[in-house]
Amino acid sequence: MTMSETSATTAGTVGGTVGGTAGAEVLRPHAEDAFADELAALAGADDRPRPPRWRLSPWAVATYLLGGTLPDGTVITPKYVGPRRIIEVAVTTLATDRALLLLGVPGTAKTWVSEHLAAAVSGDSTLLVQGTAGTPEEAIRYGWNYAQLLAHGPSRDALVSSPVMRAMAEGMTARVEELTRIPADVQDSLITILSEKTLPVPELGQEIQAVRGFNVIATANDRDRGINDLSSALRRRFNTVVLPLPATAEAEVDIVSRRVDQIGRSLDLPGGLEGIAEIRRVVTVFRELRDGVTADGRTKIKSPSGTLSTAEAISVVTNGLALAAHFGDGVLRPGDVASGILGAVVRDPAADRVIWQEYVETVVRERDGWKDFYRACREVGA
Ligand SMILES: Nc1ncnc2c1ncn2[C@@H]1O[C@H](COP(=O)(O)OP(=O)(O)OP(=O)(O)O)[C@@H](O)[C@H]1O
Ligand SMILES: [Mg+2]
Repeated sequence: MTMSETSATTAGTVGGTVGGTAGAEVLRPHAEDAFADELAALAGADDRPRPPRWRLSPWAVATYLLGGTLPDGTVITPKYVGPRRIIEVAVTTLATDRALLLLGVPGTAKTWVSEHLAAAVSGDSTLLVQGTAGTPEEAIRYGWNYAQLLAHGPSRDALVSSPVMRAMAEGMTARVEELTRIPADVQDSLITILSEKTLPVPELGQEIQAVRGFNVIATANDRDRGINDLSSALRRRFNTVVLPLPATAEAEVDIVSRRVDQIGRSLDLPGGLEGIAEIRRVVTVFRELRDGVTADGRTKIKSPSGTLSTAEAISVVTNGLALAAHFGDGVLRPGDVASGILGAVVRDPAADRVIWQEYVETVVRERDGWKDFYRACREVGA
């Protein structure tokens, strides 16, 4: 039998946020709430066929992620900046019976894309399993409410659904973060779910059969490979989409300034983005150190051990903006980003510091218009 009809009443796992944050100002709203207007406008304008239980057609989901303008003039902001094809392949995968694996180095928007895809496809990005070395099988399959279990024995009421089980029962998108951090035997509990589309509950002599519309988006980090490799059996059940680092400095500046602007607004930071020159500088420094060569291709430099991802550039600029807002004149200046850059670059105190000092003395010092930044770097200790 299927248990989809009772799935919404599982003890303690359904029914919104603990403590009832409805109405209160949450620090970080889910994508489906933050962009509710855009999603509603897309649903209204979308006359293309929708796969079973999808809130939008694949075309509208891709437009939600990549941005665009609807016939009525509504502007959909881009969430993901990068090759269009990547998002098209990802969305198409979700409409098939194969699951989606987003792979890439840290900070390439894997989690971000996964959240927005789930929000656009299912209207709910919260059916989430956070993968860690300690993730138990119950997090993927189901657990028990022990008080109920002891009092009344195994029953449907004593069962605690996992997010994956709920997604199966309701035909929704489940998300598994950091799949390769999960121990191999626990990962393997996904195999039956993804290939048979069923989750047996032997204690009750029942099973949960996935309803159409169910799928899984997993994310995994390139650098973590080798910690817990994906078994080839599990890998075959996924379509893998690799998210690249931003191709050009301009694209990366665009990503950083968009996100910083959004984050700044949600933190109520005054000051707009007059600091775009400073953002460009942070991105240049990060890219040059990452690539091991200056932007003009002339000077080879050593790369430090940190990843210097776009995500880190975003946080350096956001912190800089907060410094400028609270202790400066509100405009982002070299002194506001220098210490953040230093913190991101110097992960290994010995080796990275030498690399950074060399970069400051050979590249930063010589560059036209970078005098203030050079001074700021010296001040924070390079
Ligand atoms: N191409 C991109 N387009 C839009 N935003 C991006 C892009 N690359 C990075 N970002 C931004 O970087 C931030 C971090 O991304 P996210 O946390 O999703 O990275 P991740 O790939 O999951 O990293 P990790 O491997 O560390 O988990 C997000 O705020 C996201 O907006
Ligand atoms: Mg992530």
